Amino acid sequence: LTVYEWDNVYFPNWPWLKDAHLKALRTMPLREDDVFLCTYPKSGTHWAHEILDMLLTGKTDKHQLPTAPLAGMTMDYIEHELASPRIFNNHLYPKHMPEGATDKVKVVCVSRNPKDIAVSMYHFNKVSPEMGYDGEWSDFLPLFLEGKGIYNSWWEYTLQWWNAEKKNPNILWLTYEDMQEDCFHQIKRVDQFLDTGRTLDFMETVNKRCSFQSMTKSLQAQHTRFFRKGEVGDWKNWFTVAQNEEFDTFHQQKMKNSDFTVRFEL
Ligand code: A3P
Repeated sequence: LTVYEWDNVYFPNWPWLKDAHLKALRTMPLREDDVFLCTYPKSGTHWAHEILDMLLTGKTDKHQLPTAPLAGMTMDYIEHELASPRIFNNHLYPKHMPEGATDKVKVVCVSRNPKDIAVSMYHFNKVSPEMGYDGEWSDFLPLFLEGKGIYNSWWEYTLQWWNAEKKNPNILWLTYEDMQEDCFHQIKRVDQFLDTGRTLDFMETVNKRCSFQSMTKSLQAQHTRFFRKGEVGDWKNWFTVAQNEEFDTFHQQKMKNSDFTVRFEL
C-alpha cells in the first residue's frame, strides 16, 4: 500500500496533496449552510452525498457525484467555485476538521460494518493505481486490521469520531446497513435534520434515484470505481472461517469499552 503521511494519518498518495493544504483546511472559512459528510472510506459516501445533494438542491434530474473529497479540492475551488450550500465529503479525523465545523454547521456521519468495508477497500485498492496494491485478499486483511491503508484503521477513525461527538446535536449518525434496510426512512431523517422540508413524493423520487441500480446506470468513468456490488454481507463470500474468528476477536477487543454498535448483516 502506498500512502501519504501527515500528522500520523495516512492520506491518499496524490501528487498534489501538500501538508500546507491539509493545514489550511483547519482555518478554512465556513458558511452557515455548509454540510460536512464524514465517513471512513467505503462506508457509502457517494450514496449519502447524492441523497444530501438532492434534498438540499430540490433537484433529482441529474446525479451530482462529488468531484473530490475535501482534502483533494483546492482552496480556490472551495472558496470560489463550489456553490452554496456546499457539501464537503471527507474522511478527516476530528482533529483535522476545519475548526468549529462540528459546532457551527451540520455534519452527517455514515458508518458501515468493517467486514464489508475491508472487502470493499480491497477491491477499491486493486483498481486504484495510486493505492499501490496488487496483493491477495489474505494479504490485505492483516493490513486492514493494522490500519496500514488510507485513513489508518477503521477502529481508530470510528472511535475517535464516536467518543468525541456522539452527544453533538449538530451531527446526524447514519449507517450503511440502515440505509440498505429502509432508505426512505433514512432520507426522511436527513430531510428533518437538514431542515429541507421536502414532500414525501419528492423523497420517494430521491429514494428511487439513489438506488444502486439508478446510480450505476449513468456513471462517468471517474466514478465507476466507487460502485461495485452495493450489498450488506458480501464479506461472507470472502472471509474464511478462521479469518472471521480472528476478526471477531480483534473487533471485540477494540470495541470492548465502547457503546458504538455495528450490524454485520441485515
Ligand atoms: P461495495 O464495494 O461493497 O459494493 P464510498 O462511496 O464510501 O467509497 O463507498 C463505496 C461503497 O458503497 C461500495 O461498496 C459501493 O458499491 C457502495 N454503494 C455506492 N452507491 C450505493 C448505493 N446507491 N446503494 C448501495 N450501495 C452503494
